Amino acid sequence: MEHAIVRSKMKKGLPLMGDPFMKYYVPDTDWLTSPSFNRMLKSYTSVFVKPDIGRKGNGIIRVRNIGRKRVEISSQQGTIACPRDQAYSKIEPMLQPNKSYLVQQGINLATYKRRPFDVRVVLQKPSGIWRATLMCAKVAPRKSSVVTNVAKGAKDYNLYRLLRRTDQILKTSEVMRDLLDVSFQTAQILNAKFPLRIVGLDLAVDKRGKVWFLEANTKPDNVGLESIDRRLHRKYLKAKRIIRKASEE
Ligand SMILES: Nc1ncnc2c1ncn2[C@@H]1O[C@H](COP(=O)(O)OP(=O)(O)O)[C@@H](O)[C@H]1O
Ligand SMILES: [Mg+2]
Repeated sequence: MEHAIVRSKMKKGLPLMGDPFMKYYVPDTDWLTSPSFNRMLKSYTSVFVKPDIGRKGNGIIRVRNIGRKRVEISSQQGTIACPRDQAYSKIEPMLQPNKSYLVQQGINLATYKRRPFDVRVVLQKPSGIWRATLMCAKVAPRKSSVVTNVAKGAKDYNLYRLLRRTDQILKTSEVMRDLLDVSFQTAQILNAKFPLRIVGLDLAVDKRGKVWFLEANTKPDNVGLESIDRRLHRKYLKAKRIIRKASEE
């Protein structure tokens, strides 16, 4: 039984951007260059710069327009402000020279107790059919947080319960339906390119309730999920056992 580990975010994003249904859910994304960065920064309220191959929220930079042609640049190292036309020269020294970077339209994440969150959906294919076996929300530790990775202090929450208590009033059942719809489409499209048995999706819900694809992990780690939804966790473990058995055959 085959399963490909694909690390490049661009490689996984391209088939989705090329799909007539899914492209609507993928934020505008490009390789980072000075022109692509400046184009995006003029078009969107915020942009995210991230390593094409990276994990755990490492090396992610958020650049936000704050008015009067000024921007605010936030990373793990803190926040600085500067004129927009100097932004690229400020972020350049923050990049690792041996890595390729993406620049992406920033999504204005919905918040819970004023802290941004995103959604993790794990899909598994124990037999021929994709199943959504885990779903949870990951709430960032602070209002100012740039990333919602558990490795950077975010906490897992029960998704259904959290969606009913967000700071923005969201149509919970519509958001849930869209999250699942986007998840299954993504699994299907990526699986047609790379053989997959499991995929962990990072999806965003913006302040208006629109669902967005952020990234697909072909080697997701799922620590801490047991405590928030035990029934789903059992379902996940069962699929995992079946996949393991099949791959031993
Ligand atoms: N375009 C974006 N808009 C808003 N938030 C984003 C965007 N891209 C990434 N993030 C935030 O950064 C986190 C990490 O980004 P991600 O693409 O998942 O990289 P990693 O592989 O490091 O997890 C996301 O979970 C989300 O909180
Ligand atoms: Mg991620």
